[in-house]
Amino acid sequence: MTESAPVDPTSTEAWSQLAAIADGFSPDLRGWFDTDPGRAGRYTFQAADLTIDLSKNLLTDEILTHLVQLAKEIDVSGRFQAMIAGEHINVTEDRAVLHTALRRPKDGADLVPPKGFVVDGEDVDAEVHATLDKVYAFAEKVRSGAWTGITGKRITTVVNIGIGGSDLGPVMVYEALKPYVQAGLECLFVSNIDPTDVYEKTADLDPETTLFIVASKTFGTLETLTNARLAREWLWKQLLSSGAIVDTVTARVEAVAKHFVAVSTALDKVAAFGIDPENVFGFWDWVGGRFSVDSAIGTSVVVAIGPDNWREFLSGFHVLDEHMRTAPLEQNVPVLMGLLNVWYSNFLKAQSHAVLPYAQNLHRFPAYLQQLTMESNGKSVRWDGSPVTTDTGEIFWGEPGTNGQHAFYQLLHQGTRLVPADFIAVANPAHALKDETGDGSAVEPGQDVHALFMANFFAQTKALAFGRTAAEVRASGADESVVSAREFSGNRPTTSILAPALTPSVVGQLIALYEHIVFTEGTIWGIDSFDQWGVELGKQLAQQIAPAAEGNVDALESQDSSTKALIVKYLELRD
Ligand code: F6P
Repeated sequence: MTESAPVDPTSTEAWSQLAAIADGFSPDLRGWFDTDPGRAGRYTFQAADLTIDLSKNLLTDEILTHLVQLAKEIDVSGRFQAMIAGEHINVTEDRAVLHTALRRPKDGADLVPPKGFVVDGEDVDAEVHATLDKVYAFAEKVRSGAWTGITGKRITTVVNIGIGGSDLGPVMVYEALKPYVQAGLECLFVSNIDPTDVYEKTADLDPETTLFIVASKTFGTLETLTNARLAREWLWKQLLSSGAIVDTVTARVEAVAKHFVAVSTALDKVAAFGIDPENVFGFWDWVGGRFSVDSAIGTSVVVAIGPDNWREFLSGFHVLDEHMRTAPLEQNVPVLMGLLNVWYSNFLKAQSHAVLPYAQNLHRFPAYLQQLTMESNGKSVRWDGSPVTTDTGEIFWGEPGTNGQHAFYQLLHQGTRLVPADFIAVANPAHALKDETGDGSAVEPGQDVHALFMANFFAQTKALAFGRTAAEVRASGADESVVSAREFSGNRPTTSILAPALTPSVVGQLIALYEHIVFTEGTIWGIDSFDQWGVELGKQLAQQIAPAAEGNVDALESQDSSTKALIVKYLELRD
């Protein structure tokens, strides 16, 4: 363990200043914009392809100064440098945290740390690029048809079996980059141990053209191994029943060799499952599951979009890593967004944070961010084991716009809770369509539908920021009895993120942006954002309870009265 004790953020001078401002804080976005024509320009930043407008946040120059000062007092930059250099900042697991190494270019001259740096006795760059080359070679074989199933047919469906970081990242990126998927190839994702998931995903598949990728860092995750066994049984059964193979041990082994590959750090366990070690893509314990989408865990996506697009995806991460490493704190977008989250959580007592992509292909981004943010920063102790000194870890949630507008935005606009929100949009949609007919009134024939979509994006942050006063409601002719119901307070903070298009690079940039926001917040709070002990108890209890759920009397008797009664009811209800 190399890290020194965390600085208590509440003991800093900046914290005292921010607390003093927060006491009686009365935001006034209307007034701030009216009196300060430079506000939008001053608070809009560029990080690679991302234009990020922070001006509709509850932020003043004074608050920003103290937030930046807080980052300095805690030394966020110093800890980031330690992270990328391979120091064991994952203290409770005594591990380096090197997801930034996964996207370093092969031939970068000015890399920091320099090319070939060694961590725990390994040349990190050499390891990363050897694995990437292996993944790329495999992906090319599948894409070209050189890799065939047991009957010689080319692969058309890749099924990724994984959960948590071994699922949420690949599925999110696959959806985000669907326009880049090679024609004739598709990916499906099985994660849940509910048998319905594997049943429904495999129901219409042709076993002869299906390839399973078992993605599990530990190769010890109950859900993934159970689903992998179910998939293997499905494969054998289908191939046998169609007469594609005869029932011999050799044929079964051969079927697994042709239809299963794995991604894992646990090569021995993969071999025990029957997957040829040649067809295993490795990674390292210095990549956390939720930070692993750009490792071999993304193999399904590399197959789908191809190595060239994957390289572009990785370059997007790297450019954001460089921004995080080199931009002054005052201009450093992930740091500023992380600091703003601290401002809202700790000083203005926000409990949740909405992420609202106005890009349909980003529809799994909020789910992906839930693991990234909440598994990382939902902690009650600091990295030295002492209790945290302030609240940590907001609840991240969201849905794509405009769907959310017709569901939960009511609460965002007029509810009693403060919910900071990130609005994310791209200027160029994957598929631009015009409404040639129009609706005969508001929508003209030939209307660009994406412009209509974006009008919603712009309108929402404007409404949230500036609201509508009672005087404005009255002026619109509303009856006095409904004036208060139609009033909007405004001063509801949003960040707008705009990119040119949802390219592989932009998707990489967005992920890296949020990774570094998580890092910034975790560092301020003094917590280890890279462990996840909180998921262990439930896992252990599920293993213990499994016999009871199958009717074992002794196991049932050892449960508490509530759990026991629920299991008894479940057993009664079973057909
Ligand atoms: O249970 C939580 C977790 O450990 C996540 O952190 C991880 O992404 C997921 O399970 C899957 O783990 P693995 O890749 O080892 O199967």
